[in-house]
Amino acid sequence: LSPGPLRGRHVIVTSGPTHEPIDPVRYIANRSSGAQGTAIGRALVAAGATVTFVTGPAVVPPPADTTLVRVETAQAMHDAVMAALPADAVVCAAAVADWRVANAGAQKMKKSVDGLPVLTFAENPDILAAVSRLGDGRPALVVGFAAETQDVTRLATQKRARKGCDWIVANDVSAGTCIMGGTENAVTLVTDAGAEDWPRMGKDAVAERLVARMVDVLTAVTP
Ligand code: C5P
Repeated sequence: LSPGPLRGRHVIVTSGPTHEPIDPVRYIANRSSGAQGTAIGRALVAAGATVTFVTGPAVVPPPADTTLVRVETAQAMHDAVMAALPADAVVCAAAVADWRVANAGAQKMKKSVDGLPVLTFAENPDILAAVSRLGDGRPALVVGFAAETQDVTRLATQKRARKGCDWIVANDVSAGTCIMGGTENAVTLVTDAGAEDWPRMGKDAVAERLVARMVDVLTAVTP
């Protein structure tokens, strides 16, 4: 067994973007690098947790010493998280696509004289909300992220209520902050006690501070 305050605790982390296929060679994605989720995975391992790391196609390599589950789509990420339960905590740091292409082609779409392709969309399952709303077997601590471009604290507080999670780690990803894809993060932690603005720091430092708070809560629930 690994030493550390989270020894014997199972934590599931989602990280990275998802890819939603348009056809066998094309997909819809987003700019998530997986850096913050990976840093959180690493900090949890360092604290002794047993970590299931469910990652989309991220730019940064995944943390060592986890049970690694690589997925492509939001639906597959949802299924992998559900299959990995039960857990003491779940951290949803992935940038999950809200929509998938409902009319994705089984064959590569071709330029045609019939004109431009028209994509239709279907809503993806919300992993954070689904985990938060589990009755029996709900993890003791469910943490979500919120990437906003304005009015961060107010929107994150609303998001916490809407998703039913315990904490929201909110950040401002508006142009010029260099946060999405960057090495630093400036976050606001929203809990039942209100909102705390943390100073801008490296993503590793954000992860370590977040995990220290998780240790406080998880060891208070069941020492
Ligand atoms: O609603 P929004 O996408 O802004 O919420 C962000 C939070 O919800 C993140 O923690 C993200 O990982 C999670 N999420 C999820 N499944 C989705 C959409 C978002 O787990 N389909």
